[in-house]
Amino acid sequence: MPNVNPATSRRHFMKFLAVSPLAAAAERPDPMVWAPFDPNTIITSPAEAVSVFDLEPACRENVPPAHFGYMASGVDNEDTLKANRADFQTFQLRPRRLNDVSKMDLSVDIFGATWGSPVYVCPIGGCGAYHPDGELAIARAARRGNHLQMLSTMASASIGDATKARGAPIVFQLYPTASFEVAKLLVKRAENAGSPAIAVTVDQSSGRKLETQLRLARDDDRDCTACHDRASPQASVARKGNWDGIELEKFGIRGIGATGLTWDFFKRLRDVTKLKILAKGITTAEDAELCVSHGLDGMVVSNHGGRAEDSGLSTIASLPEIVAAVKGRIPILIDSGFRRGADVVKALALGATVVGIGRPIVWGLGAFGEEGVARALEIIHLEARSIMGQLGARSVKDLTPGHVRRS
Ligand SMILES: Cc1cc2nc3c(=O)[nH]c(=O)nc-3n(C[C@H](O)[C@H](O)[C@H](O)COP(=O)(O)O)c2cc1C
Repeated sequence: MPNVNPATSRRHFMKFLAVSPLAAAAERPDPMVWAPFDPNTIITSPAEAVSVFDLEPACRENVPPAHFGYMASGVDNEDTLKANRADFQTFQLRPRRLNDVSKMDLSVDIFGATWGSPVYVCPIGGCGAYHPDGELAIARAARRGNHLQMLSTMASASIGDATKARGAPIVFQLYPTASFEVAKLLVKRAENAGSPAIAVTVDQSSGRKLETQLRLARDDDRDCTACHDRASPQASVARKGNWDGIELEKFGIRGIGATGLTWDFFKRLRDVTKLKILAKGITTAEDAELCVSHGLDGMVVSNHGGRAEDSGLSTIASLPEIVAAVKGRIPILIDSGFRRGADVVKALALGATVVGIGRPIVWGLGAFGEEGVARALEIIHLEARSIMGQLGARSVKDLTPGHVRRS
C-alpha cells in the first residue's frame, strides 16, 4: 500500500523539493512543471481547483516521490512530453457567432453506448500507488458525469471490481505480453466483466527510460521491496487485480513486455473474441491505414503521454494526417497532453471521436481521491462545453475542421 499518510507525506515532499531536479525545474516553462508551485497556496479542497493544474501540487504533496516521479515522467529528454503540450498552441480555434447555443448536448455514441461527455478516462496502471481507493475511486468519479473509462491491464483493481464501481461497461486495455495464452486469459476476464472493447497497447515494444522517475526515486527513502521485488517476475503483477490466478512463469514469461509483437497479433485476437478491438499508440497515417486494413474497430492516437519514444511528435500534430488516412471508416480516439477544454475541442473539430485524459486523473486522485478525479473531469468537460458554445457548436457533431486553423 502506498504511503499517503498526510503526516509523513509533507516531510517526503519537502525533502524531495530540496534535492530533486524538479526543484530546479520549477523555473522551467510549461510543461515540465505545469502548476506554479508555492507550498502556501496548495489547494485543500477539490472545489478550490480553478484548472486541473491546481490539482497537481496537491497530488505531489500526498504521493511519495518515486510514485509521483513515475507518473510525471516522460522518456529521455521529455521532448514528446513537452510537444504534447506546446503543439496545442500552434492550433487556434475559429469562433462562429450568432448561433443559438442555449441548449447544449455533449454526449457521444461509441462502443454501442451513449456517454455523457467526449472526455474519457485513460488507462493508468497501478492507481493504488496514488490513493488507496485507486481505480475504484476513478470509476465512481467517471460514473458521476457518465464518462467512458478504460482500465489498464496493470490496474490495481480488477476489471470486474472496477466495472461494478463504474456501474457501466469499461473498455479493457490489454498489454499483449509475449504469451498469447496469457492474452486470452486477460481478454476472457474482460469479457466476463462485460467490456465492450479491448484496446491493445502497441507503443511499449522496446523498453524505456523514465528519467524523472529515476531521479525522484533516489529521493524516496521508503523500503520499496515489499511491492517492487525485481528478482521475482510474479511480483510485478502480484498485487494487480487482473492477474489473479495467472502465474507468469507457468507461461514462460517474466513480465508484460512484448518485443515480438506484430500486426499478426490482431488476426489471432480476432479469432478468440467478439469484442471490438482497438490499437492504442498509433501516431502515423501509415499505421492508421494498417489498423483499418487489419479490420480493427478503432484506434487510439497516443504516444502514451510522452512515455513511449522521444520523437518530439505530439498527438495533436499527428491527428490531421491520421484523420485523412482513416476517412471516417473507424473511430479515432486520442490522448496525450490534454489538459484544457480547448485542447479537447481542437481534437474533436479535427476529427477525433473522443478524447482521453491521463495524468490530470492521477492529480485529482492523489490530491483528493474520488472527489479530486470528479473535479478534474468536471473542469475539462465544462471548459469544453463553454468553448463549444463560443464556436456555435451545440453538439460534438457540429464541430468541423473549419473551427480550427494551424499557424
Ligand atoms: C502513470 C501512468 C501510467 C500509465 N499506465 C498505462 C497503462 O497501464 N496502459 C496504457 O495503455 N497506458 C498507460 N498510460 C498511458 C495513458 O493511458 C495515456 O496514454 C497517457 O497518460 C495520456 O497522456 P497524458 O497523461 O498526458 O494525459 C499511463 C500513463 C501514466 C502517466
